[in-house]
Amino acid sequence: MQDARKVSTLTEDEAQAELARLAEILLRANADYHGEDAPQISDADYDRLKSRNAEIEARFAHLKRADSPSDVIGSAPSERFAKVIHAQRMMSLGNAFDATEIAEFDARLRKYLGLPKDAPLRYTAEPKIDGLSLSLRYEVGRLVQAATRGDGAVGENVTANARMVKDIPQSLLDAPDILEIRGEVYMSHADFAALNTRQAEAGAKTFANPRNAAAGSLRQLDAEVTRARPLKFFAYAWGELSAPLADTQFDAIARLESLGFSTNPLTTLCDGPDDLIAHYAQIEQQRASLGYDIDGVVYKVDDLDLQRRLGYRSTTPRWAIAHKFPAELAWTRLEAIEINVGRTGALSPVARLAPVTVGGVVVSNATLHNEDYIAGRGSDGDQIRGGKDIRVGDWVQVYRAGDVIPKIADLDLDRRPEGAAAFVFPKTCPECGSDAIREDGDAVRRCSGGLICPAQAVEKLKHFVSRAAFDIEGLGAKQVEMFHGDDQLPIRTPADIFTLEARDKANLTKLANREGWGEVSARNLFDAIDKRRTVPLARLIFALGIRHVGEVAARDLARHFGRWQALVDAVDAAAPAAGCQLLADAAEVAERQLAAEEGRRARIKPARDAVWADIDGAAQTAWNDLIGIDGIGATVAVSLVTSFQQKAERASIDQLVAELTVEDVVTDDVGASPVAGKTVVFTGTLEKMTRAEAKARAEALGAKVSGSVSARTDILVAGPGAGSKATKAADLGVETMDEDAWLALIGGA
Ligand code: IVH
Repeated sequence: MQDARKVSTLTEDEAQAELARLAEILLRANADYHGEDAPQISDADYDRLKSRNAEIEARFAHLKRADSPSDVIGSAPSERFAKVIHAQRMMSLGNAFDATEIAEFDARLRKYLGLPKDAPLRYTAEPKIDGLSLSLRYEVGRLVQAATRGDGAVGENVTANARMVKDIPQSLLDAPDILEIRGEVYMSHADFAALNTRQAEAGAKTFANPRNAAAGSLRQLDAEVTRARPLKFFAYAWGELSAPLADTQFDAIARLESLGFSTNPLTTLCDGPDDLIAHYAQIEQQRASLGYDIDGVVYKVDDLDLQRRLGYRSTTPRWAIAHKFPAELAWTRLEAIEINVGRTGALSPVARLAPVTVGGVVVSNATLHNEDYIAGRGSDGDQIRGGKDIRVGDWVQVYRAGDVIPKIADLDLDRRPEGAAAFVFPKTCPECGSDAIREDGDAVRRCSGGLICPAQAVEKLKHFVSRAAFDIEGLGAKQVEMFHGDDQLPIRTPADIFTLEARDKANLTKLANREGWGEVSARNLFDAIDKRRTVPLARLIFALGIRHVGEVAARDLARHFGRWQALVDAVDAAAPAAGCQLLADAAEVAERQLAAEEGRRARIKPARDAVWADIDGAAQTAWNDLIGIDGIGATVAVSLVTSFQQKAERASIDQLVAELTVEDVVTDDVGASPVAGKTVVFTGTLEKMTRAEAKARAEALGAKVSGSVSARTDILVAGPGAGSKATKAADLGVETMDEDAWLALIGGA
């Protein structure tokens, strides 16, 4: 398998290419999922790729992409349910798949906490229940609300349904006044089988697996249906609390048990990675006889104070990890290879398979990643699958661990049909015929058609209306496709959305009179569009769908520039320099090649510098400002500039913005934090926390952490041994303080 290579063996270049590949796959999977199209990869594959992505990011922090999939969680809540804003976000878990990754997890935590190798660090280990997570809110001992996870921030209100689940207490004695309990709703194997028998007898829908049955049963509009479904609940975590439950995870779970919740009896304390692995092996052995589905073992740091110090990444706690069970495999025939074209023009090959049952679920698609993958080459150019290429007609071994669509693990050359030809990856876009180009270092071939490519235009529009972007009610992926192909009332660019009503007025045939539409639905759509005419800056930037500019980069850019026009001016001013950046990259490649041929060391700096020699000073400054923004590197900057310079794209952006009121960024969004919006540099030895911890805490309070001192630095936190940075800060008159003063400032000693 292509991604079977250990992250620890990747070189920096390989890691970068791999991150690009993973971002492509994972962000596409998100789009597929949120757009409610058929997902192209299984949940398990998704989790696994996501954790690999996180692992690479952990090893090469500076390579983390602005559009990193690590910063995205779950799925949007369904419109069918009222929404619940979680008092505390419901997090996801990072994944690991083998003992090495667990050892790395332990080492990572020790490093973050500054704990020596031999200092004790205890964990709890408990089964990872394969159901759906639920948050139960109790106020003064009474159950007042139950909500699904949704996208982590906003879930679905399923209170009436949760009241039907026997394992969920309606009232509690001796509980904190505010108590949010999190856990998993699941269905036992026996109950699942009986339910499916009853459903089949009644001619009703049967479920593919216990998890779907549990989810389908809880997410019912009629709570009476839920009552008839045998759901169970294990409590394993908590959200908002008015008083702490205990000092350790283990004791907190015991407390939940004494309050009347079911907790998993296999929860154990472990003393380190070896102990965890031993416990994992034990649980794996018991797996088949548990009577309910589990898909791994979850490890959590036991000491709640350490959990607090470790805190969270954007979507997962640092203090926990899911050690997943290996996936299932099956053989089937590859019937066709199709090419999908995505928002950024990526040509993604998809395998159409003869349907096969893997672990109880029928699968018929698999991702083939890119042309190298089909050809039997990994991202580093090395062979994968022993160099065997994938051909239509081949017998392939498909892999899944979740419930949707697998990928290809291997193929059987002995069963290759005679005359099966090697797959020729298209060099032109199958949708618009433009050249499909593969840039140096990019595993992906991309259509160069930009907005003239209907596939890209449609995907861009889908992205534009998606939940994290404009989120226009009643204008989802399906409607976008319909309007895109419509001759009377087309939506071909985002601006078209906002002129829809005016154009409809001018048309003879009104939208309201068309099949499937009426006065009310047309009115609702126009109103929903109007509601979005005012948009926060970050959302607008994200919605543009510029390659490498994900939600996080969009937020960073918005925070930095504050106003749309300021961003535009900065990007325009930096434009000449972006060209230099690309030329410098090319010059570096050329110099490396030449040096290799001439058997000498490559002189990279002079080769790159030569390109920059004639650059206009203002452009150089603008460029440096742009790439100096924390979280924005040259890749994002080049991508931004390229989009803004591309004529059709720029016209589309300008037309859109003319229709909108873009809200400036109000900088006090981190509340009363005294360091919000400030640029902070840490230098010297920190004694009370590690550098990573210092950075994470500062950022959580809204500060920007930079690696170097400049005129824009607001605070230098200097520990013992601070050198040139302290001198420079003094020269520039930058406020300098020691670690204690910093901790006093941010209010945590
Ligand atoms: S702890 C902040 N413990 O796995 C950490 N999660 O893949 C919260 N899950 O969303 C999660 N069993 O739905 C935790 N013993 C367990 C779990 C568990 C199943 C689910 C949960 C979570 C998902 C992440």
